[in-house]
Amino acid sequence: TLQRFETLAPLRRATGAWRAAGERIVLVPTMGALHEGHLALIAHARRLGDRVVASIFVNPTQFGPNEDFARYPRDTETDLRLLAEAGADAAWTPEVATMYPPGFSTSVRVSGLTEGLCGAFRPGHFEGVATVVVKLLNQVRPHAALFGEKDYQQLQVIRRAARDLDLDVAIEGMPTRRETDGLALSSRNRYLSPAERAIAPRLYAVLARIADAAGRGEAAAPLLDRGRAELEAAGFGPVQYLEIRDAESLAPVERVERPARVLAAAYLGRTRLIDNLPIG
Ligand code: PAJ
Repeated sequence: TLQRFETLAPLRRATGAWRAAGERIVLVPTMGALHEGHLALIAHARRLGDRVVASIFVNPTQFGPNEDFARYPRDTETDLRLLAEAGADAAWTPEVATMYPPGFSTSVRVSGLTEGLCGAFRPGHFEGVATVVVKLLNQVRPHAALFGEKDYQQLQVIRRAARDLDLDVAIEGMPTRRETDGLALSSRNRYLSPAERAIAPRLYAVLARIADAAGRGEAAAPLLDRGRAELEAAGFGPVQYLEIRDAESLAPVERVERPARVLAAAYLGRTRLIDNLPIG
């Protein structure tokens, strides 16, 4: 059965008891509005350990002033039911004032990795993410924490922060869950109109074609130019970025010779979609 915690002391008592009993704890951080991608993380987390803690916290510090924090979908009762069905042991659902009490002044800034891709269009976003994830890790003190490759830059930023700060946790990634037409599952997909929903899987199709061609040794620049034009012709715009980057350092790649990733962010109407695929 799922236990819900809204304050830190009872959460720490429960996780402390599990740890003392030698149980392996796995944390799955989320912002709620749970979909099959999140639930796949919970299912995988169950295989990685003995106790699964899912956090639900719509983190205000990772949203920009003109982003969707206020209208981000919130449905905690449904989320709790889904977590219980998926076999999570605990839901950590703090209030904003619990995470950021008056006087809160500290943040975790990862340089380099956060400068391009989403970081270039969402100033402060990854600082908000890294800070809240380090807090969650210290609150739950899991043996492992699980993240989706859907947010690939986020995963690399968290890996970097965990290494740099000597956090005693294994950061694990999981491949992206998709609809049958290829669209990556996302809490933001519910913003899409039916017409936009019909166009949305073209993002995956364009990435898949680029990943295939780049994996066969084609040069990046012409593939990316053509892909961008295809996205715009399909109705996306603006296309914020469409790039091939090294899978680990996220450095730009001109021709793929080691593991790489093709990554994109594009607006479809008012909704910003991101996706990425492995190359090679
Ligand atoms: P959120 O967008 O709710 O995502 C929670 C986790 O689910 C992240 O690790 C994300 O990469 C993963 N995820 C989302 N869609 C997925 C999909 N289609 N397939 C597989 N995994 C998917 O990412 C965040 O929340 C926040 O930034 C957070 C890390 C919780 C910090 O606030």
